Amino acid sequence: MLERLQQLESQAQQELEGIASARDLESWRVRCLGKKSQLNELLRGLAALPLEQRKAVGAHANELKARLERSLEHKRQLLALERRERLLRVEETAVALGDITLPGRPLPLGRLHPITQTLDEIREIFTSMGFQMVEGPEVEWDRYNFGALNIPPEHPARDSMSSSWIDFETDTGQRPMLLRTHTTAVTARVIETMKPPIRVIEPGRVYRYEASDATHVPMFHQVDGLAVDKGITMADLKGTLYEFSRRFFGEDRRVRFRCDYFPFVEPGVEIAIECSVCRGDGCRLCGDSGWIEILGAGMTHPEVLRRGGIDPEVYTSFAFGMGVDRLAMLRYAIDDVRLFYGSDLRFLRQF
Ligand code: DAH
Repeated sequence: MLERLQQLESQAQQELEGIASARDLESWRVRCLGKKSQLNELLRGLAALPLEQRKAVGAHANELKARLERSLEHKRQLLALERRERLLRVEETAVALGDITLPGRPLPLGRLHPITQTLDEIREIFTSMGFQMVEGPEVEWDRYNFGALNIPPEHPARDSMSSSWIDFETDTGQRPMLLRTHTTAVTARVIETMKPPIRVIEPGRVYRYEASDATHVPMFHQVDGLAVDKGITMADLKGTLYEFSRRFFGEDRRVRFRCDYFPFVEPGVEIAIECSVCRGDGCRLCGDSGWIEILGAGMTHPEVLRRGGIDPEVYTSFAFGMGVDRLAMLRYAIDDVRLFYGSDLRFLRQF
């Protein structure tokens, strides 16, 4: 009998050790110390024993019961302590991180500036037609911005492009550097450095010394283009720029070609699209004409090719130049170009 008791105790103690939760502890209590436990059954059986034996075993059994109850209480306190420590750690993390039960904060996502988006789209259209992208410097020599493009010092075209000159004294007293007024300066460089066949587009910033208003800012963006090859004609120019307009503005927009003058092309053309507001009837946006000019172009002047070292008797060429800000304004129906440069997030978040 005593042996049986000892066995019960060591088994119970062993099980107790492995317990890690309050729920398991409770079921251990029911199993080992409850009414239906083996211990209780054993105690009930004592009644059948002779008195002497009953006393001895009874005392043993009661001590055993008391020991198991103490162990139970000890284990209960241990588990409570562990639980408190765990909660404390969670709480410390929560304090450090803010409320960890809240959903995570979304990271703010940036986006591309509408001018960048427009530039990317123009680039995509022309590169898909086989044009390659090149860039040139924003601080430019007079020679590339004007001279090589058939715009000599006394030419009136200089006045129409108010220049920001860089003070730069030379022996002859001239100041030959400026912030480029158009990306056509890159065309002059390309003609001088690349060999035909050439198909390039030249995106970049340009500068005009002008006060800002709804349609003018002192720094804006252009994309010039150039194709030089044997047998290039006005039809290539028209086909290329029709395709551009169709893809940028949509199939149904009418396009108009008209004569215009630029010193570096002959003949020169101005290309306009049907006004997006009145569709040709005339309104405030298009100055009652029904048309909005989007780019200048023409067959590259033979003199410009010759100066760059390309024989105009062998090669012909077309060139074009467009204002990116203007295209973006038409595309997104924006009536003030200054909005692009105000860094107002309420405006920029719309794109
Ligand atoms: N550079 C001209 C401007 O800024 C635009 C232009 C017109 C560019 C005709 C060209 C061209 O390449 O062929 O007003």
